[in-house]
Amino acid sequence: MKVAIYTTYGSPEVIQIIDVEIPSPKPNEILVKIKASSATRADTMMRQGIPKYGRLFLGLFKPKNTALGTGFSGVVGAIGSQITKFKIGDEVFGEKLTGNGSNAEYLCISENELIENKPKNISHIEAAPICDGFLTSYNFLKQHAKIKEGQHVLVNGASGSLGSSAVQLAKTMGAKVTGICSSKNIDYVLALGADEVLDYTKININAQQTKYDVIYDAVGKLNYYNSKNNLNTNGIFMTPVLSIQILWQMLLLPKKVKFEATGIK
Ligand SMILES: NC(=O)c1ccc[n+]([C@@H]2O[C@H](COP(=O)([O-])OP(=O)(O)OC[C@H]3O[C@@H](n4cnc5c(N)ncnc54)[C@H](OP(=O)(O)O)[C@@H]3O)[C@@H](O)[C@H]2O)c1
Repeated sequence: MKVAIYTTYGSPEVIQIIDVEIPSPKPNEILVKIKASSATRADTMMRQGIPKYGRLFLGLFKPKNTALGTGFSGVVGAIGSQITKFKIGDEVFGEKLTGNGSNAEYLCISENELIENKPKNISHIEAAPICDGFLTSYNFLKQHAKIKEGQHVLVNGASGSLGSSAVQLAKTMGAKVTGICSSKNIDYVLALGADEVLDYTKININAQQTKYDVIYDAVGKLNYYNSKNNLNTNGIFMTPVLSIQILWQMLLLPKKVKFEATGIK
C-alpha cells in the first residue's frame, strides 16, 4: 500500500510517498481501508517542526514518528479475533493519534481508540476531518471552561476547524456566542449559530467594551494580557496554541489562562 511519510522537518516537499506492506490487525485491532483522510493545521505544524520548541516532544533533530495524518474515514477491511463492535464492510471514521498515520491507504486501529460508525448522511470526505476540531474544542469548553447556560463566549478564529466546532458546541451548551473571523466568512459563522460576528480585518478586538465569561482563542492570535479587559471578573482565557507568552501567563495565572494539547487526550 502507499503511505505518506516525512523523515525531516520542512515544507510539503519533505513528504515522501512510499510502498509498505498492508498491516495485519492484532486481535484487538481493525484494519481500515481509507477513503478520505485529513491534513490539518496541526499536522502542518508538526511536519514543519514549528514552533521549534515543539521538537522537544516531536524529536529534536528529526521527527520521531514519521507517520502523517490523524483524521480518517473508510471501510473496515479486516478485524482481529477480539473485535465485537465492528464487522467487515462497516463504514467508520475516527482519529489515529499514535503509531501509523491516516495519510495512507490502510491503517490499523484498536476498537478502544477513536473510531465510530460513520453516519450515513455524511460522506467520507466530510467525516475524515471532523474529529480534530470538535474533540479539541470540546475538551476546552467542557473541561476547562465548564460552560454554563447564558454565559458569553468569544471564539477567535471562528471560521477554522477548531473555531467553527467551538461555535456550535458553545451554542449547544447554552452560551451566547460571539465569533471572530474575516469578512468573507461572516455569513458562514452566523450560519453555524453565532449570535454575533466581529470582523478582525475591520476592528481592533481588544478595543471593544464587551466583557466575556470565556475567551477561546482557537487560532493563537490573542493572549491573556491583551484580552483581560474583555474578561469578566471570573472570566478565563483559553487557547489550543502554545507560545512562550502563553506558557508564562499560564504558569503565573493557572486559574485564568488555559492551554492544553487536548487533541492527544
Ligand atoms: N492544543 C491542541 O490540542 C490542538 C489541536 C488541534 C489544533 N491545534 C492548533 O489550533 C490552531 C487552529 O487550528 P485549526 O485547525 O482550527 O486551523 P484552521 O482551520 O486553519 O483555522 C484557522 C482560522 O484562523 C482564522 N484567522 C487567521 N488569522 C486570524 C486573525 N488574525 N484573527 C482571527 N482569526 C484569524 C482564519 O479565519 P479567516 O479565514 O476568516 O481569516 C481560519 O479560519 C492551530 O495552531 C493548530 O495547531 C491545537
